[in-house]
Amino acid sequence: MPSENISVLLDEKRVFKPSKEFVDQTNVKQWMDEHKIKTIDDLYKKAENWEWFWGEAAKELLEFYTPYKKVVEWNAPWVKWFVGAKYNIVHDAVDKHAKSWRKNKVAIIFEGEPGDVRKLTYNDLYIEVNKLANALKKLGVNKGDRVGIYLPMIPELPIAMLACAKIGAIHSVVFSGFSAVAFRDRMLDCEAKAVITCDSFWRRGKKVPLKTQTDEAIKDAPSVKNVIVYKRTNDPVNWTNNRDFWWHEITKDMSKECPTEQLDANDPLYFLYTSGTTGKPKGIIHAHAGYAVGTALTLKWVFDMKDEDIYWCAADVGWVTGHSYIVYAPLILGATSIIYEGAPDWPQQDRWWDIIERYGATILYTSPTSVRLFMRFGEDWPKKHDLSSLRLLGSVGEPINPEAWMWYYRNIGHEKCPIMDTWWQTETGHFVISPLPITPLKPGSATKALPGMSAEVYNEEGKAVQNAGGNLVLTHPWPGMLRGIYKNPDRYEQTYWSRFKNVYLAGDVTRKDDDGYFWIQGRADDVLKISGHRIGNSEVESALVSHPMVAESAVIGKPHELKGESITAYVVLKKGIQPSEDLRKTLTDHVSKELGKIAKPDEIWFVSDVPKTRSGKIMRRVIRAKAMGQDVGDTSTLANPEAVDEIGKAV
Ligand code: PRX
Repeated sequence: MPSENISVLLDEKRVFKPSKEFVDQTNVKQWMDEHKIKTIDDLYKKAENWEWFWGEAAKELLEFYTPYKKVVEWNAPWVKWFVGAKYNIVHDAVDKHAKSWRKNKVAIIFEGEPGDVRKLTYNDLYIEVNKLANALKKLGVNKGDRVGIYLPMIPELPIAMLACAKIGAIHSVVFSGFSAVAFRDRMLDCEAKAVITCDSFWRRGKKVPLKTQTDEAIKDAPSVKNVIVYKRTNDPVNWTNNRDFWWHEITKDMSKECPTEQLDANDPLYFLYTSGTTGKPKGIIHAHAGYAVGTALTLKWVFDMKDEDIYWCAADVGWVTGHSYIVYAPLILGATSIIYEGAPDWPQQDRWWDIIERYGATILYTSPTSVRLFMRFGEDWPKKHDLSSLRLLGSVGEPINPEAWMWYYRNIGHEKCPIMDTWWQTETGHFVISPLPITPLKPGSATKALPGMSAEVYNEEGKAVQNAGGNLVLTHPWPGMLRGIYKNPDRYEQTYWSRFKNVYLAGDVTRKDDDGYFWIQGRADDVLKISGHRIGNSEVESALVSHPMVAESAVIGKPHELKGESITAYVVLKKGIQPSEDLRKTLTDHVSKELGKIAKPDEIWFVSDVPKTRSGKIMRRVIRAKAMGQDVGDTSTLANPEAVDEIGKAV
């Protein structure tokens, strides 16, 4: 549902031209020179031959064990990239650097919330990954087995992912802010054989007890045979002998060498659960080689990644942004990245600017919600710090309103850093619509589909339209494209490929302007974007209904100044249960427990009924219109039109 506050985007007329530094020296320009391509328009044109384009990209960025026979095989909606090749992403992300001049280059600069710092070189990473990979093997984890990872933002999170990928196991990372119940549900779905977690981690000066949550989750997840626990805070934990192993103990005597499994280029790398329109999150499947080239090329071009850069993607690895642009792409490019464990306002509201100054960060990639949060803290905080090392900024996860864009541009980028507003999804694996540093920018627009990719706006009849709101679609496959939904091929075909034949439906309402720039306005389906986090309306509804006092619930998103959207829930209580402030709090806490704090409703309203269709589908659109004081439209087809008025009488 597009938010009203987003409509201002459509009137944005300002254009920011790229500076000469970028026009002359970017990675994309170098690529054009090497391929004798003269203008940027020629590059986009040439890349319309996407099979050729991605083949060239792979030549430059990937090392296969055995070469591929074909760049792509497209049997809509199923795709294979680099068919016939033997490959493993860990070779490109770790092994090859550890055997090169980058051996002693810092891969990860880690700063914990209390201020502890660790720097890991590519060689350190190589050794740590190998040791953990050997430990996993010792526990009987084999190629194709699933491993759940429930870790905070510490270097062990990428290490755990890479160790799994190294032996051909499939990792499924669950955001450490998700509850034990949410973690359990994901482990049940992917039938994880082992889980990697830690004792606890720091958040705003407090310890979050991840091992306790893990214990709670896996008592009902029988497939999980072992738990590896990293000691982060030294907190006491409960222990189950023969099931639980300390990371430092199990890896202690392991060899520093572990052969990297030579996989089929299309073997799965990970499952990442994301929200859709049903109450059950879907396990999005990504595979090795296509994903590797798609993430690496887009990072190299969009953020113009050079060996000297100190890059900071301030997302969490628990989401796709972190998978692609904290772990895999930067490592494939041999970059130096910052990983920060804690909260942005701890101990003060300038923690980020302090980090940028101390490490000389050159690239910052974050979300519009974070930018709006910093706006709220005020511009005096960044002013206290020397941010002159920054040369590029990025935004992701939700539409960025022009006011936030301008604040970011002025106060953080000092009007010299272009802002890369990157549109993409868990499903796309990497940026799809995004500027390059040489693209003229309009605040609030992610500009155009990158070379080698193709986007359109379709009306309901499947015709490409300009200057009108419509459905964002991608018209041919791309290398990081999802390979399906785990155990649910029908849902994959139905969700993404059935509305328009052989064309990918992104689920976003979008408009394309006269210059061909895309203006993403928000989700078209029943998915919320809360602080850039993706949460299904029906997931929150299911969580509410799982409380014994709740009969029914309807959840809508409302525009929110800081978070983009907020969660408002309408709740019908079971017979005889009376609404109360205590119950409101109980239900809020219940959702927190079921899903995690990020899904906590901002408002809970008690009603006697919610509007439904005759087939029993809750009419969220009507509820939202009523709640927002807008025209509710024709309600005569509803099974209970009088319930619309009940929304107005909510207590
Ligand atoms: O609605 C779009 C929004 O985030 C959705 C994808 O969410 P998720 O799979 O969690 O991945 C987020 C990080 C890649 C999209 O369908 N979205 C993402 N980036 C942008 C955006 N909306 C507007 N502008 C963006 N740059």
